[in-house]
Amino acid sequence: FLLTVLSIIAAYLVGSISFAVVVSKLFGLSDPRTYGSKNPGATNVLRSGNKAAAVLTLLGDGFKGWLAVWLAYRFGPQYGLEEGAIALVAVAVFLGHLWPVFFSFVGGKGVATALGILLGINPWLGLGTLVTWLAVVFAFRYSSLAALVASIFAPFYYGLLFGVDAMLLAVLVMSALLVYRHRANIANLLSGKEGRLGAKK
Ligand code: G3P
Repeated sequence: FLLTVLSIIAAYLVGSISFAVVVSKLFGLSDPRTYGSKNPGATNVLRSGNKAAAVLTLLGDGFKGWLAVWLAYRFGPQYGLEEGAIALVAVAVFLGHLWPVFFSFVGGKGVATALGILLGINPWLGLGTLVTWLAVVFAFRYSSLAALVASIFAPFYYGLLFGVDAMLLAVLVMSALLVYRHRANIANLLSGKEGRLGAKK
């Protein structure tokens, strides 16, 4: 039980590292919480004009999600970490990204981290979701719409691959939180005010 609690806390702490803020600082850019959508995420870092910083944010936020889940699957079972506990680790790293303890609980919207988590659960699950995201981006050029559509598809992909279990519940919770975090984007999409990727403002 102690290991379960420690794993969940560790995952939350790792999730709390906001790569948008850290990478921006390293690149000498403004804090992404002060411009654009004010979201500490790769899409908003891209609005700084620095593509490398945006890519590093995407990779960093994705990697932390992947790492937590991969470690839990790889080493958890031999130390008695149950299936349900691994699902909680996945949710914990995601919650860390959304409400990071290191950044006064002002976190991102969870897209990169969710993708990393899904890749950690299963590469095909992650790739299927990534392709869904890319398809919507190429068709409509809205990062947020792509994330919303991909987050709706992800639980279905999981269910098709693995059926109903604790991790499906975790994926559903993450998708619901992701949609909730995009409520400003949803309002902007509906009123035609959402900015497209690559659009100059
Ligand atoms: O990665 C989050 C994306 O879906 C929307 O970001 O900055 O346009 O609100 P943003």
